Amino acid sequence: MKNVLVIGATGQIGSELTIELRKRYPEGKIVAGYIKGAEPKGILLESGPSELADVTDGKQLHDIVDKYNIDTIYNLAALLSAVAEEKPLLAWHIQMDGLINILEIAREKKCSVFTPSSIGAFGPNTPKDKTPQDTIQRPKTMYGVTKVATELLSDYYFNRFGVDTRSVRFPGIISNVTLPGGGTTDYAVEIYYSAVKGEEFACPIAAGTFMDMIYMPDALHAAISIMEADPSKFIHRNSFNVASLSFDPEMIYASIKKEIPDFKMHYEVDPLRQSIAESWPNSLDDTCARTEWGWQPNFSLDQMTKDMIMALRKKFGK
Ligand code: SER
Repeated sequence: MKNVLVIGATGQIGSELTIELRKRYPEGKIVAGYIKGAEPKGILLESGPSELADVTDGKQLHDIVDKYNIDTIYNLAALLSAVAEEKPLLAWHIQMDGLINILEIAREKKCSVFTPSSIGAFGPNTPKDKTPQDTIQRPKTMYGVTKVATELLSDYYFNRFGVDTRSVRFPGIISNVTLPGGGTTDYAVEIYYSAVKGEEFACPIAAGTFMDMIYMPDALHAAISIMEADPSKFIHRNSFNVASLSFDPEMIYASIKKEIPDFKMHYEVDPLRQSIAESWPNSLDDTCARTEWGWQPNFSLDQMTKDMIMALRKKFGK
């Protein structure tokens, strides 16, 4: 990895991954790719090059890859699960037409490609606990359909054309720089914002609903280390289960209350998000990621809570 294009650089993952890559590869060009209306600002704008990079515009992407001699593409453009149910055709257009554009450029220019998959690539008849790496994938959401198709198409380009595609199935990502938009796991981010702002939190997911989650530093570590890994040990490519945390709303609430004892939460369950959450695993088995490229997360729930609260207090001057 030397010259990298991050597509979706102003989104939840991209805004932190781009900065992390710039620190890690100071000699390289790490291009922040954005769309109209989501222009980079502040440190993201000032710390390196940025380009308009609409994933649905193959020519635009091609020109950027040429201009910066890009060798690695992080394809982070996507509509998350709940919003993709509102706009399924747009989700398909971004996730699938966008992916084909990238894979074709990667084939021609010999780029490596990371396109995340998700816990959303599983469905109601997937084994729920310790979900295996290789198992039933019949998701019920458009988000999940595009993620399974992404895994298959990425493997196809590797097997058929030798394109170096690699991926992880991300759990819900908890972070404090850029909010996620329209996902089912977003509650686990929003709850911290409410706690630090001193607001009561209306939880859209019911007590007892477990989902896989991960703190952003661990998610960045996964996204970077899989692209840096020696592929000779890979048995899988698209896409690896990565696990870190698994909790329900009661557990994250209890963790926050240890730091902010007067924090209050009540339930206002959102039927769409709840039904999506119930169709996803409770916890993934990530043995393959651990043995094939050395994956290991660092943050526990309570460590993440301490760090999130500290960062958000700083952000909001609380
Ligand atoms: N965080 C995503 C969502 O909730 C899942 O990958 O849609």
